Amino acid sequence: MTLIFAHRGSAGTHPENTMESFIAAEKCGADGIELDVHLSKEGEIVVIHDETVDRTTNGKGFVQDFFLSDLKSLNASYKFKTFQSFIRVPRIPTLREVFDWMKGNQLQCNIELKNGKIMYPFLEEKVIDLIREYQYEERIIISSFNHYSLVHCYQLAPDIETAPLYSEGLYMPWIYARAIHAKGMHPNMKAAPDMIIRGAIEDGIAVRPYTVNKKEDMERLIAIECSAIITDYPEKAKKIKKQM
Ligand code: G3P
Ligand code: CA
Repeated sequence: MTLIFAHRGSAGTHPENTMESFIAAEKCGADGIELDVHLSKEGEIVVIHDETVDRTTNGKGFVQDFFLSDLKSLNASYKFKTFQSFIRVPRIPTLREVFDWMKGNQLQCNIELKNGKIMYPFLEEKVIDLIREYQYEERIIISSFNHYSLVHCYQLAPDIETAPLYSEGLYMPWIYARAIHAKGMHPNMKAAPDMIIRGAIEDGIAVRPYTVNKKEDMERLIAIECSAIITDYPEKAKKIKKQM
């Protein structure tokens, strides 16, 4: 059975990586959410995709140069003009806030460590400590394009699933995944032909391709029982899955 993971929440219809986006994903019945993390100036784990706040908020500058209180003053839906909330302004959440909200549901959470361009000190340790505090070991998958960082996570917490992100076609990538102690792999969907997906799953490695937004791609991946798809449109994916 293919699970539906909401990419940056329901990012196709809501401002990405906000509580509004995660709540929308839960409401439509997604099985999990995917989110991206960086560290603020004082070392708080914050949920935002880019190294800077420029693309998604009304601010300017690197996330790591902002204290949390200043990040919290930014409007995280500023660039998502089609979304309007009359209740509150969407803000950049902390990972702790997302974890608190997860107490009220059963969602899985794929945390992507955004430590490819900036090496945040002790990011892996901080994320794992928080997972331990909430006892979410079974609900979390840690992914990253930085595979050294994933090996470090495994060394710190061998019981927490890791999954390398990659975008180039690899030959028998499940062998590579095993070599770095990963239990899953998260390829760009263009680098994940059916044969590769089947090979990995048969070998016990979960495959969750990103970012699967077109109907025909959702149908193909659900039909071959891919472990999960990561999509900006979880509601659409749920409907398609139900009709199959
Ligand atoms: O986790 C899959 C996907 O989120 C990786 O790419 O750039 O959307 O974080 P990106
Ligand atoms: Ca991501």
